Amino acid sequence: MEFYQDNANLKWIILVVSVVISVSSIYYTNILVNQLKDRERNQVRLFAKALEYTSNDTNSNILFITEEIIYKNNSIPTMLVDEKGDILNYTNVDLDPSWVPIRKDKELKDQLEQMKRTFPPIPILLKDPSTNEVFGKQYVYYKNSFLLTQLIAYPYIQISVIAIFGFISYLAFNYSKTAEQNRVWVGLAKETAHQLGTPLSSLMAWVEVIRDDPQIRGKGIVEELDKDIAKLKIVTERFSSIGSTPVLKSENVHQLVTNVVSYLQPRVSAKINFEVYALSESIQAMVHAPLFEWVIENLCKNAVDAMGSSGTIAIKILRGNERRVFIDISDTGKGIAKSVIPNVFKPGFTTKKRGWGLGLALAKRIIEMYHEGRIFVKFSEENQGTTFRIVLQSA
Ligand SMILES: Nc1ncnc2c1ncn2[C@@H]1O[C@H](COP(=O)(O)OP(=O)(O)OP(=O)(O)O)[C@@H](O)[C@H]1O
Ligand SMILES: [Mg+2]
Repeated sequence: MEFYQDNANLKWIILVVSVVISVSSIYYTNILVNQLKDRERNQVRLFAKALEYTSNDTNSNILFITEEIIYKNNSIPTMLVDEKGDILNYTNVDLDPSWVPIRKDKELKDQLEQMKRTFPPIPILLKDPSTNEVFGKQYVYYKNSFLLTQLIAYPYIQISVIAIFGFISYLAFNYSKTAEQNRVWVGLAKETAHQLGTPLSSLMAWVEVIRDDPQIRGKGIVEELDKDIAKLKIVTERFSSIGSTPVLKSENVHQLVTNVVSYLQPRVSAKINFEVYALSESIQAMVHAPLFEWVIENLCKNAVDAMGSSGTIAIKILRGNERRVFIDISDTGKGIAKSVIPNVFKPGFTTKKRGWGLGLALAKRIIEMYHEGRIFVKFSEENQGTTFRIVLQSA
């Protein structure tokens, strides 16, 4: 129980930490981006001022300084445009030298449109040097430098890479966990079946020896031993089937369910009432009988545990659409808390003092892996009862 709590908490902690890292990364890069944006804007303003000076002033000293500024801009793409909208000059716009002039023109116009959408232009006033009279205007358009564009995209690329990496690691981890679980299930089951085999054969031989003993005959001992041996055979068969790939056969579901009920009924409190309803007693499904009976037995045992000393276990066998068979097992027990339902099929999850938490994990494995069916909690209300549903393919 604690393991599942811890596991769930760990998931939340990892999620929260990743969100905090992502948000702070975006936030911090945003601050950098804004600072760099301010700096680039000022640089373009200075660049525009320098252009204004060079076109209006003929003082060679200033020209020297302004040209210095103009040539220093080697990262921000800019375009100088006249009042009619024609491009007079441009800097840092990437053009392929192999392009024909029409292609180049088109690219320049596209870039200009992009710049128009990005920032408002900085106007340059053209003045007559002698009278200082404004006789025209030009505009400097610009957009973010490559560095700035990269910096804006950076946190998103970083987060995507981390997310993809996390997702792949999660899949790999899950895959190896499932593979490991499979090996443990199969290995343990095979080993158990194997170990049971030897004493079982020897028991069978001993029963034959004492069967005809006049001192034992007529006391019902051999008959009881036969029953126990039969049960042991079933157990061995269950374990050996789960350790291999069981072959499915068309079986009468009502019959199999009745077998389990007749086995369990005398072994539980007399106040526990079993009821089996079937739409038709001839419903057939593709199942492996020993494993299917094991599932029903596990579900019924859980139902008995949930009810304590008295109650009703109702098993309904129904036909669904698309050639499906439903087996609903309902009890009038204490129910399962909503928060616990997602855990009940996990191996090791139990709320019982003497439980192993394997019954439902095994049932799920048998139904979903070997029968390609489904098993789930169809209904559960605290202190009202629980219904588990098994869905199988009809034969
Ligand atoms: N019919 C039910 N009513 C209420 N709770 C249930 C019912 N069936 C299962 N549960 C809950 O699901 C848990 C897991 O069931 P599962 O059969 O896997 O293990 P277990 O019964 O605890 O132990 P094991 O079956 O290995 O002896 C149970 O401990 C119980 O809390
Ligand atoms: Mg159980």
